[in-house]
Formats: sequence, structure tokens, C-alpha cells
Amino acid sequence: MSEELHDVRLRVNGVSHDVRVPARRLLSDALRHDLGLTGTHVGCEHGVCGACTILVDGAPMRSCLLLAVSAVDVELTTVEGLTNPDGSLGPVQQAFAECHGLQCGFCTPGFLTTITAGLRENPCPNREQAKEMIAGNLCRCTGYQNIVKAVERAAELAADLPAELPADSGAASRVQA
Ligand code: FES
Ligand code: FES
Repeated sequence: MSEELHDVRLRVNGVSHDVRVPARRLLSDALRHDLGLTGTHVGCEHGVCGACTILVDGAPMRSCLLLAVSAVDVELTTVEGLTNPDGSLGPVQQAFAECHGLQCGFCTPGFLTTITAGLRENPCPNREQAKEMIAGNLCRCTGYQNIVKAVERAAELAADLPAELPADSGAASRVQA
């Protein structure tokens, strides 16, 4: 018996997308497979690794633990939406590039979204707060030192921006980290 499909409107990075999905479609799969936004990565699919983290109304959430049908009437931000409005790298992306905050890069989109939200809550973290900010995300290459440095650098870069960190801007650019 074929599965019943549901019409869902997902608002991602400022753009509305109409999709037909089974009730059990994970949001992470809908983003990747239905919308082609493959910047969101899937690691454990158990809510442990943080690779799939996106922002839901600005709050970091594991997209592998959400169903696409439940993600309506909210603004979703994926790593593709973290660029500045002009399409250039956003402060967290830029900081990762400058500080060599990625090795294999698989975990990186989850770090970028997590840190974007973290810096909105605490725009000027000290070293311990920077470590806490990323405590829920796993990097199996154990390159945490550079990621912590990237948090601090991102805070500096964001402070120089005229407006808020861009994840709230609804930027529709599609630049992957
Ligand atoms: Fe979602 Fe690991 S893939 S937390
Ligand atoms: Fe690959 Fe973190 S950069 S797991």
C-alpha cells in the first residue's frame, strides 16, 4: 500500500517551498532530498552528533529529530542561509575559513548554524563560553581548538557588521560553507 502524502509549505532561508511528503519524512531528508538543500548534513540520525542542526525561528534544532509536516509556520534557516545579504560569507563562515575550523567538513554546517544562534544569545563569549556553545556538536576529527578560535573570531566579525547576524535576514543565497 502506498503511503499517504501530505502537502506542506516549508519556509527556508526566506523562500517558501511546497512539497508533498509522507507523514514520517524527516525534516533533514525533506531539506536534502525534496528541496535539494544538501548543505544540511546527516550523521547519526539520533539527535546526538549535531551535524543536521538548523535554525527554527532562530533556535538551533536537530532536523533529524523533526518531521517535515511539523515544520510549518516557522522560519527555517539552513547553512545556505547564513551568507550575508550580498552573498558573501557570513561572519561564522568567514571565521571558519580564517581559523581553519573545518577538516573533513561534514560536521561543519551544524557548527555554523549552532554558533550563529549562540552568538545571537551571547555576542561576546569568553573561551569557556565558546566551548559551551559548541558542546552539543561532535567533530570526529577532534579539531575543536580551531573551532573554538572560530567562535571568537566570528564574534569579532559579527561585531563589525552593521546589522544582526544574517540568519534572521531571510537571505536566499545558496552558498554552502
Ligand atoms: Fe541529527 Fe546527528 S544527524 S543529530
Ligand atoms: Fe569532520 Fe568535524 S570537520 S567531523
